[in-house]
Amino acid sequence: MDFVVNRQDLRQCRFVPDAAGEHAHAGPGCAVLRVASFAFTANNVTYGAVGELIGYWKFFPAEEGWGRIPVWGVAVVEDPGDSGLVAGERIYGYFPMSRQLTVEPTRVSARGFTDGAAHRRELPPVYNQYTRLAAEPGHDPRDEDAMMLLRPLFATAFLIDDFLAENGFFGADAVVLASASSKTAFSLAFLLAKNRRDACRVVGLTSPANVAFVTGLGCYDRVVAYPDVATLPDQPVVLVDMAGNQNVTRAVHEHFGANVKYSCQVGLTHWEQVGDVAGLPGAQPTFFFAPSQIEKRNKDWGPDGFQSRLAASWREFLAGTKGWLHVVHGCGAAAVERAYLDTLEGRVKPDEGLILSLQEP
Ligand SMILES: NC(=O)c1ccc[n+]([C@@H]2O[C@H](COP(=O)([O-])OP(=O)(O)OC[C@H]3O[C@@H](n4cnc5c(N)ncnc54)[C@H](OP(=O)(O)O)[C@@H]3O)[C@@H](O)[C@H]2O)c1
Repeated sequence: MDFVVNRQDLRQCRFVPDAAGEHAHAGPGCAVLRVASFAFTANNVTYGAVGELIGYWKFFPAEEGWGRIPVWGVAVVEDPGDSGLVAGERIYGYFPMSRQLTVEPTRVSARGFTDGAAHRRELPPVYNQYTRLAAEPGHDPRDEDAMMLLRPLFATAFLIDDFLAENGFFGADAVVLASASSKTAFSLAFLLAKNRRDACRVVGLTSPANVAFVTGLGCYDRVVAYPDVATLPDQPVVLVDMAGNQNVTRAVHEHFGANVKYSCQVGLTHWEQVGDVAGLPGAQPTFFFAPSQIEKRNKDWGPDGFQSRLAASWREFLAGTKGWLHVVHGCGAAAVERAYLDTLEGRVKPDEGLILSLQEP
């Protein structure tokens, strides 16, 4: 069973039978994975919103006009075939919102493998790599929900923190984060507050309804609702924009003018308010694509050097999430559809993390 959405209208969604059948067997060079559970956040909505532009529809092909939104999840090896994987072992990685996925494991090692399926070969490698959880140092199955929900978002924040620091914050002394209640934004705020106190202040912009939650996180120096951008003191800033809302981007650029030293476009949580932001005062918005920065740091630090720095930082962040992250589980087609539509419409509370499954309860 596959969950598919209309590529032209993300509000239209439905379930279709899996083309491979419910209990597929692994052909030569293949393995069948049962998708046990997956996280769903605004990040996944963005995969759909920019599916055409960035190619997210290409990972898990669907019928013409429809798309399968990718999610980060955990699967169990159902049929390892001749792949070298072990039946029953748990795998973390990029999956469709489906009951199962057939992969073509290549570069199989004790730590993981790459899906070498022909249609994925040209896509960014970070999405094609799967982790064998039993072999992961320090892996605790009790942390799997938080891992699915936060690890890819935290990794992006880690890369932005590193990118900004490497560039001396472009001469700014404050970082303004739009959509400050998003998990990606407050992962970054956590890193900035912990490591860069001397270099910059951290300012969060959010919806009026989310001001209290963002303030309570304790990692922003100041939290301001979107309508109050003009109350911020004029100083050199970097804008890190997870909202993608043209009105917010415009308000920040017009308020700070030439003091916008760098404008980093990261996300589109406000996916329906996206618009043309060319020609604004200050530095022109520049898209941040995490996989490109990963490739850079893999070259600079070596893949092991990159992974060990990221892992150490992640463990510290994870420990701090236990106080506020409320995991909400949903199982079955109706729950998945409801969670999808709630996330699309911005109805999920920022302290909630949705973990979903299409398996039989
Ligand atoms: N470029 C990259 O490589 C990269 C990598 C990772 C993530 N990202 C992006 O970062 C963004 C954040 O993702 P996330 O998963 O961390 O988000 P999340 O935690 O699910 O964000 C939830 C927040 O987003 C805002 N929001 C969500 N849906 C909305 C809607 N329909 N209308 C208005 N506001 C809405 C609200 O925040 P406010 O009230 O605070 O606005 C809400 O509290 C996504 O766009 C994601 O794609 C980009």
